[in-house]
Amino acid sequence: MLDKKKSNLLLCITGSIAAYKSVDLARLFIKNNFDVRVVMTEASKEFITPLTLQAISGHQVHENLLDTEAERAMGHIELAKWADLIVIAPCSAETISRLTQGRADDLLGAIFLASEAQKFIAPAMNMNMWSNQTTQQNIEYLSSIGMDIVGPSKGEQACGDNGYGRMSEPEEIYETIMLTQNKSLIGKKIIVTAGPTREQIDPVRFISNNSSGKMGFAMAEAAAISGAEVILITGPVSLSCSPQIQRLDVQTADEMYREAQSSMSDADIFIGCAAVADFKPVHANIQKIKKTDEDRLNIELQKNIDIISSLAREFPDKRFMGFCAETERVEEHAKSKLIKKGLDFIVANDVSKSDIGFDSDYNEVSVFTDNSHQFFHKASKNLLAIQLVNLLSKENQSLH
Ligand code: PMT
Repeated sequence: MLDKKKSNLLLCITGSIAAYKSVDLARLFIKNNFDVRVVMTEASKEFITPLTLQAISGHQVHENLLDTEAERAMGHIELAKWADLIVIAPCSAETISRLTQGRADDLLGAIFLASEAQKFIAPAMNMNMWSNQTTQQNIEYLSSIGMDIVGPSKGEQACGDNGYGRMSEPEEIYETIMLTQNKSLIGKKIIVTAGPTREQIDPVRFISNNSSGKMGFAMAEAAAISGAEVILITGPVSLSCSPQIQRLDVQTADEMYREAQSSMSDADIFIGCAAVADFKPVHANIQKIKKTDEDRLNIELQKNIDIISSLAREFPDKRFMGFCAETERVEEHAKSKLIKKGLDFIVANDVSKSDIGFDSDYNEVSVFTDNSHQFFHKASKNLLAIQLVNLLSKENQSLH
């Protein structure tokens, strides 16, 4: 964990249109008491000038492996030893490939080999370059040798394509790195529920909702970044998660409850992000219900188990974070659910807004505890998840 003294961060910039975002990233770290030095590759200088980064960081930018000036001041070995953290943002496909080969014929490559600092990579490239099997294998390899990969995120790209490949926003990179530095969740077990549940009416019809699972999956990924062991219990969604997350797929609220209950005894925190169907048909028809001449069809419904409140009652020594989806009087309903369900935190999102909440890549939430209220402005679900897990992590730290 970084101590309170000024920490040393080496920001490496490679050739990508996202290089302009490195300025904001450097600023964020400097504002938060980091001493930032910058390494730039030849290609990066096509996108942003060393002078800009020198002005921001207050230090001469390091550019060449063999540089008499640099050797008198800070050469690659000194820089490698100086750094507490190394961040490559943006990191091009070319640099990712070079790192897998352990190349040391430029300053960045040599520093990477020589440094024992924790290393972070924020990829930035065209979506097809990112999804290419070679890049994916390279990323898998770098991750397997201990490098932390932040992003990339999804969205419109400079080339006009729309998909995964954009460098994550500076705030997300910063918050992710800070989350890895607060070690209070390492070794903790966190259970996250995500997505909708599906309650069958007959073999071809069901009751469900618009939850895509994005918020819950982002929470699970953020919890994994914090060093916790994560179990993700998800309803039917079309998302994938990191291999270190244990994923359990379920359909119904009853199945979700059973899986959660059987994992709870040695868990520390439960995060209920799933949009669990509140009701299920009393009887699921074995055969498809046939259309008749009647204009109406009555399906009798019964209440589903309330997973989070049942678990909170059964396991009073655990911490519980619930989400609540509201379309009106958001704060009032959230506070009431916090108490009624016996939770430690409730994360309220206003799902009447079309640009956040269900199925959006963005959200905006307020977190209530019994004595506090914190607002998190509209951001990607990934960033919000990192911020929420940071909140849990800080709270966990203050409990010890
Ligand atoms: O999946 P996305 O498309 O990304 O959308 C994210 C989201 C809007 C689904 C998410 O942010 C969210 O708000 N999830 C909770 C939705 C919900 O069911 O809210 P609720 O107010 O009905 O429930 C409150 C809490 O009780 C939740 O933690 C819920 O998981 C839990 N619950 C509810 C009903 C039930 N039978 N059992 C439960 O455990």
